[in-house]
Amino acid sequence: MSFADMDVDTIWMNGEFVDWDDAQIHVLTHGLHYGSGVFEGVRCYETEHGPAIFRWEEHLDRLYESAKPYDMEIEFSPDELTKATVELIRRQELESCYIRPIAYYGYDSLGVSPAGCPTDVAIACWPWGKYLGEEALENGVDVMVSSWRKHASSQIPTNAKTTGLYVNSMLAGEEARRNGYVEAIVLNKEGNVAEGPGENVFLVRDGEIYTPGLAESILDGITRRSVITLAREMGYTVHDSASISRGELYTADELFFTGSAAEVTPIKSVDDTEIGTGTRGPVTEELQSAFFDCVERRVDDHDDWFYYVED
Ligand SMILES: Cc1ncc(COP(=O)(O)O)c(C=O)c1O
Repeated sequence: MSFADMDVDTIWMNGEFVDWDDAQIHVLTHGLHYGSGVFEGVRCYETEHGPAIFRWEEHLDRLYESAKPYDMEIEFSPDELTKATVELIRRQELESCYIRPIAYYGYDSLGVSPAGCPTDVAIACWPWGKYLGEEALENGVDVMVSSWRKHASSQIPTNAKTTGLYVNSMLAGEEARRNGYVEAIVLNKEGNVAEGPGENVFLVRDGEIYTPGLAESILDGITRRSVITLAREMGYTVHDSASISRGELYTADELFFTGSAAEVTPIKSVDDTEIGTGTRGPVTEELQSAFFDCVERRVDDHDDWFYYVED
């Protein structure tokens, strides 16, 4: 859905609440030219206790950690960013939404070195439905293995959520959509499974769960961490430092994506090869139910994973 069709009117920029249309940057902003920004994507869920931000502290931690390799000093404290976000959700009367905090090197000069450029910070919130479509959650998505490889962490840190990295995601995702698939799976430099363009990947085989380890050039997804915790609590064995070969994708019993945007989405085929029975598998369904029961607060467990806007 286009921003033009959304009922949102305020963005927080460098300490001020500004009208949506006035949230502008200079065309010579460093981050625009060199991808020198770090950001987060967070979901806030509608619950019977009002809007609840899922794993807000972990997302904020990752934002500051992402800034570190780039020597970027975010001058606002986590507390200030939290207050700004809560105020944006309240002012715009959002019951559920997606939250996008971003910090980037701003306007001063355009050498590749950001020396002298300010670190600008902004936060926007808007309503966002199901990332890969409503139907995808139930029936799963068709994916292709991208011809684009994920860069190694020795080339660009993959555990930092940096704006510039997403050209790789865009290439892979658009290649998949051009070829009639919903999403891509990207292999790392070694040819093993890394992740989706905006999702982590999980594989189920013989009742056990596997997901590529952090050394496989992946983002340390916060949904990934949460699903690993939920799965272990449900009694599953989870191999969270797996190396998964391309071939293992096709013979998996089940595959699914996790991500703040994609939540828990089953994968029903890879390169036109049906996965399992070609529908959402039983382990995926069980984990998906546990995930949605948790984020929509139908269960009391893990209340510390939520930041309640109305408290
Ligand atoms: C490349 C990539 N991998 C994985 C994820 C999933 O991470 P998270 O669960 O923290 O949203 C994302 C989404 O942010 C992503 O962009």
